[in-house]
Amino acid sequence: MALSNDPNWWRQATIYQIYPRSFADSNGDGLGDLKGVTSRVDYLASLSIDGVWLSPFYPSELADGGYDVADYRNVDPKLGTLADFDEMLAALHDRGIRVFVDIVPNHSSDQHEWFQAALAAAPGSPERDRYIFRDGKGENGELPPSDWPSHFGPSSWTRVTEADGKPGQWYLHLFAPEQPDWNWDNEEVREDFLTTLRFWADRGVDGFRVDVAHALTKDMSEPLPSIKSFDIERQGYQSLRTLFDRDEVHEIYKTWRKVFNEYNPPRVAVAEAWTITERRPLYASPDELGQAFNFDLLGAPWKSKKFKEIIDFNLQLSAQSGSSSTWVLSNHDVVRHASRYGLPKGTNFEHWIITDGEMPRLDVQRGIARAKAATMLLLALPGSTYIYQGEELGLHEVADLPGQVLQDPIWLRDGMTRKGRDGCRVPLPWTRTGSSFGFGSNGAHLPQPEWFGIFSVEAEDGVSGSTLELYRAALKLRRSLQTTETLTWVDSPKKTIHFVREGGWHCFTNFGKKPVAVPAGDVLLSSVPISEGMLPGNASVWLKA
Ligand code: GLC
Repeated sequence: MALSNDPNWWRQATIYQIYPRSFADSNGDGLGDLKGVTSRVDYLASLSIDGVWLSPFYPSELADGGYDVADYRNVDPKLGTLADFDEMLAALHDRGIRVFVDIVPNHSSDQHEWFQAALAAAPGSPERDRYIFRDGKGENGELPPSDWPSHFGPSSWTRVTEADGKPGQWYLHLFAPEQPDWNWDNEEVREDFLTTLRFWADRGVDGFRVDVAHALTKDMSEPLPSIKSFDIERQGYQSLRTLFDRDEVHEIYKTWRKVFNEYNPPRVAVAEAWTITERRPLYASPDELGQAFNFDLLGAPWKSKKFKEIIDFNLQLSAQSGSSSTWVLSNHDVVRHASRYGLPKGTNFEHWIITDGEMPRLDVQRGIARAKAATMLLLALPGSTYIYQGEELGLHEVADLPGQVLQDPIWLRDGMTRKGRDGCRVPLPWTRTGSSFGFGSNGAHLPQPEWFGIFSVEAEDGVSGSTLELYRAALKLRRSLQTTETLTWVDSPKKTIHFVREGGWHCFTNFGKKPVAVPAGDVLLSSVPISEGMLPGNASVWLKA
């Protein structure tokens, strides 16, 4: 299927996120790889998705699942080669599937050539200026320059040993110590990222997912403020803006946009920007990244009122920026939504995982029912939808991974009090049985539980009523039903929501427990069977009227 040159192809696209290390392993080393992705392109095509987004596959020590990039313009030898990448891209393009790669501009890996050069160079050198180095406080510089914690644990500063063997300066890392932050005031850094964008765009990459897009520029003027001044509860959002969401970051994205527009069709991007919602349109504007993730439904409880409010608000926001919204329920950073929806109201998910999924108990079926209903709702909304690998199988979180297998820096750096995100990154089950359920020929880098077999592609393929077949049917239908980027709400009973898109495509979702009457129209698809005109609780239906 030839790809069109339509510059707006992304506006209502469905993008499937691949976490490459956990998708498919072609060489039996337990780690997913690019050839693994290539071997599954027919499966991806069977989903009727418009694109895939690959989480980082670049050379990395895996201090943070690949978000510690040692070389932005290469493939990790554990995952393949650039030739494998080209082959994968061609195979995906052949099937009409576009490709997004992940750009990680806030920090590199400490193994990056430029960070190694910075360590070898003297304080004040041009090499050090590419990162954020500072002298320590205290009589001998033995205290960190500020008391800022890192995202994953105690401090965001690490002290280095200078060439003379003595303890020296400190460098900033908002994430793990293996992820030193770039200095975006440095021209070379800015230029190098433009080179990286062109490198992938020249190879045919269609889009970029931009990691922690709101953090690049920082106010590092002295004296550095104390963490106490970052108290969002007491001081308000502005207090965070020493480190995040600064206006200067938008100058950077304007230069990126110029690069995107050198191509036909222009390359596209989506920002991962954890800002207050009102500032999201800045990142999503057409002269910057073009789209920004809307994670509001991902954090929302299963409540009709809440869903409706979020949908309305985000449609307004995206119209404001000239963008289209992005709908997301899961990704590689959060507890899988089938589990979130199957746990009692108000569950603290971190607590649930640290009890190995024992407390509180998960209602597996209710979780899947709601997840299916939510997916149908999302896919009927104007805008684009991001799907995370495995959700099309109804996969639940693996909450009982033992401490010794955990890879997430959150676990090790936060005193083993939080297990982190490995439970949603367990390699996919392709077959009911066999070595690593068909993921590879020789085990998986994170252990898969026994129950994975019943959620495998093999177990669900062609089975009516399975989550996989519902995704396939909904994604295919959506393509033919998709229209203008607007919706109209229709009055509906309590605990339900109902909207119609232009052309008479209705979506009706029952968030309650009790069955409700299906609205008038021809049923196109439903997340559970409808009997005697009644839609069961936790279900969605699409109608044409
Ligand atoms: C983003 C990624 C996450 C990573 C972090 C640091 O939030 O999604 O996985 O740990 O950035 O790069």
